[in-house]
Amino acid sequence: MNKSPLEEIRLKYNPKLPEIFKNLKNIEIVLTNISYQLKDKEKLKKYFKNTFAHPNIEFITSKEEKNFKPLRVACVFSGGQAPGGHNVISGLYDALKKLNSKSRLFGYLNGPDGIIKNDITELKKDKIDNFRNLGGFEMIGSGRGKIETEEQLKQSLSSVNANSLDGLVIIGGDDSNTNAAILAEYFKSNNSSTKVIGVPKTIDGDLKNENIEISFGFDTATKVYSELIGNIAKDAISAKKYYHFIKVMGRSASHIALECALKTRPNIVLIGEEVLQKKKSLSTIIKKISDIIEKRIKNGKNYGIILIPEGLFEFIFDFKILIKEINAILAKNSSNEKEFNNLKSKEKISFILKKLSESSNVCFSNLDETFQKELILDRDPHGNVKLSQIETEKLILDLVKKELLSRKIINFNGITHFFGYEGRACIPSNFDADLCYSLGFVAAILVNASLTGYISSIGNLKESSEKWLPKGVPIVSMMNIEERHGKEKPVIKKALVDLSSKSFLYLQNNRES
Ligand code: FBP
Repeated sequence: MNKSPLEEIRLKYNPKLPEIFKNLKNIEIVLTNISYQLKDKEKLKKYFKNTFAHPNIEFITSKEEKNFKPLRVACVFSGGQAPGGHNVISGLYDALKKLNSKSRLFGYLNGPDGIIKNDITELKKDKIDNFRNLGGFEMIGSGRGKIETEEQLKQSLSSVNANSLDGLVIIGGDDSNTNAAILAEYFKSNNSSTKVIGVPKTIDGDLKNENIEISFGFDTATKVYSELIGNIAKDAISAKKYYHFIKVMGRSASHIALECALKTRPNIVLIGEEVLQKKKSLSTIIKKISDIIEKRIKNGKNYGIILIPEGLFEFIFDFKILIKEINAILAKNSSNEKEFNNLKSKEKISFILKKLSESSNVCFSNLDETFQKELILDRDPHGNVKLSQIETEKLILDLVKKELLSRKIINFNGITHFFGYEGRACIPSNFDADLCYSLGFVAAILVNASLTGYISSIGNLKESSEKWLPKGVPIVSMMNIEERHGKEKPVIKKALVDLSSKSFLYLQNNRES
């Protein structure tokens, strides 16, 4: 495969490891009991009869070197790309070979569906060496398939059995690691010897807690977006004629927007979680942005940067109520839905308007027809509005423009941008390259120790990599019960922006300046 000069240089980079991983032959695990202070402890115990209440795992080195048996391990990428994924695989491969040179690594292709279909390939040195420290997930591909039904669980079990796997390493976000815990429990309850280990991946940064400092990919993605935002800020201050409305990825939580704001200091940044806490309505947000722009224009600054998190609409309370009402009005297989489907496009809008509550009617009426249509026409297989498809940045610009016109401000020019995919598959930063490589080592050691239902983690990340503290954390210890599509499910709790955290408080205290 032809490589660019930059890729050639990156291939030669030696990822740094925690000191403890310098020699794997004398590594030993230590069990540390943790108190399972879980809100839904009793329910979780029922879901995870065989894998509940496992201890945390830490590592020490002993004087004596050991011989380990060769292992057969498969890995899979699950969900969206995040920079560093290939280094998890190269770390896993190198660690398995260090534990026993006869060990073999396999990759399930194109996500969890690859497990179900038993679409698998062996990952040998030549292949791995082509992807070290490089971006993307293309070595084995990824997918958003899920293993949920009894049939899919059965198929997964026969797939790991057919390949005589000692371990399955699932590299994914909160939902995929929830899936890892479910598979671990299912395999164990069926007396399978395949152990399941998760690795925390997502640029969104919402898979974190007291035991996971950050998911891999967040560092690189926020650096890439910040560079782009910084470039636009320079362009804005040079040209002095545009307001840039920039949406950054993050399906739900606003971690990316917050981090990029701290790095680039835009004129305005919206944080979804704050919007929710302060119960801000869409019109309050639009008025606030317009006030700032109006003041800046009066001060001769007809340019600026406004950062918008992708998941914003989930947090705007009147918008949330509007979406809930539309979902209820158009509930799947309801008589409303049938009547609605037979109407022409324009009639569909008035149909919805008639059925909305007074406040939602106002909120919906304020939207441009294009956005009204987006909300009611394109719905997911459960019949719900596809919030993520709404072009938030365009909608906000449109409403701000209207508001400024109503204030007789006519010399305002806005441009929209969306930064998402350009930060997900790029070459990982050194931090992500090192973190991912180390996470691969942790996964290999956990499988080697016959542990299942664990997620690989690295602590002490603020220190240099030699001082990092690798550990294994029981996935169940991060779970709670939530309602998903009308059913109770055990899931890993998504980490939203903590409004009492140092980073948010820093933003809050320095926002005006
Ligand atoms: P993961 O949670 O799978 O890591 O993906 C996160 C993400 O990048 C979000 O930021 C974004 O909303 C979403 O994926 C986009 O999904 P898709 O790749 O399916 O367009």
